[in-house]
Amino acid sequence: MKVLTVVGARPQFIKAFPVSQALRESHEEVFVHTGQHYDEGLSDIFFEELAIPEPDYHLGVGSASHATQTAEMMTGIESLIDEESPDVVLVYGDTNSTLAAAIVAAKEDVAIAHVEAGLRSENWSMPEEVNRVLTDHASDLLFAPSESAAENLREEGLTAGVHVTGDVMHDAVLHARTRAQDYSSITDDLGVDDGEYVLATVHRAGNTDDPERLEAIMSGLSASPAPVVFPAHPRTVGALEQHGLWETYADEMRLIEPVGYLDFVRLLDGAERVATDSGGVQKEAFYLDTPCVTLRNETEWTETVECGWNVLVGARESDIRTALTQQFAPEENPPLYGDGTAATRILDALNYA
Ligand code: UD1
Ligand code: UDP
Repeated sequence: MKVLTVVGARPQFIKAFPVSQALRESHEEVFVHTGQHYDEGLSDIFFEELAIPEPDYHLGVGSASHATQTAEMMTGIESLIDEESPDVVLVYGDTNSTLAAAIVAAKEDVAIAHVEAGLRSENWSMPEEVNRVLTDHASDLLFAPSESAAENLREEGLTAGVHVTGDVMHDAVLHARTRAQDYSSITDDLGVDDGEYVLATVHRAGNTDDPERLEAIMSGLSASPAPVVFPAHPRTVGALEQHGLWETYADEMRLIEPVGYLDFVRLLDGAERVATDSGGVQKEAFYLDTPCVTLRNETEWTETVECGWNVLVGARESDIRTALTQQFAPEENPPLYGDGTAATRILDALNYA
């Protein structure tokens, strides 16, 4: 089987890594990087650390408005599908790179396989929600991380080709956790001790592009009694600078460049808790037994909230402050999203499709 994998943003390199490794043992994979993320710390570092082979094609699309970015990706992907004639186009998650590949493959009549199918925030103002729903409805194979994701698909009339595989990020974290313990010196480099700092990430458009929300988040985080380590996405750095918040908060917390995956997993593993608006980080926190404060009003990963490891605080400053001090780590850590063997399950489903 010839599989054309399309990725473009940081979390997709991480999600693709375990699947690509399994896939390449018995199939041909053509690996396409759209170039949605292009900074060394958001792209190359993951290929180096995770030993992902160099992309066969790099579309070099870069940053632009949603329409321009998606259209440029589509033009590039269309040519590649014509040139490579894949049996399957494999996409991950919910970025513009995901949707661009799905639309083109649907019109080229190539089977589409979607990893992380069925996630819903029910918030249609999120670009990612639009990308997820449209991609799922174009897909032939829908790899859902949980029964509840499969149920979301059923509610939208999608039942054919649905496989509950667990979450590929669980596979990735299990691999990285052990390596990170040996490889990473980030906590020493930053001078923080395990269990005595808060890790924070913010990059969601709904938070960065609204100065009031962004300021409330920064103010809430800076009230943490423990030091806050904050690897800042370039989108967030730009917004903090634009709204005159950088100078205020650079002194209040450890604002650093984005870090590689092994350093990030090490930081997350050692953190007393994490505050984030990331989708991936909420799950990784759960796998690593790190309590999570989610800086959003809703989440796609509802089970992490239901079982007590995650609290939703939105951008409400006082709720953020409270959540950074309250105790909320339960004893139980049930297997919500599989057991770290999602890549094998995905491969099995592809083989028998
Ligand atoms: C994208 C995804 C989001 C995902 C996130 C992962 C969409 C709509 N959004 O958001 O779902 O959670 O990736 O991190 O697909 N920039 C750089 N260097 C880079 C990349 C981006 O400086 O290498 C800056 C640019 O100013 C750019 C901004 O970040 O305009 C936003 O980048 P973009 O790829 O459009 O969206 P993300 O916020 O990264
Ligand atoms: N991550 C990383 N370095 C960082 C911040 C995050 O390696 O400085 C990893 C994190 O472990 C997770 C992924 O990036 O696997 C999450 O990506 P992001 O938050 O950008 O996107 P989302 O998951 O919200 O789509």
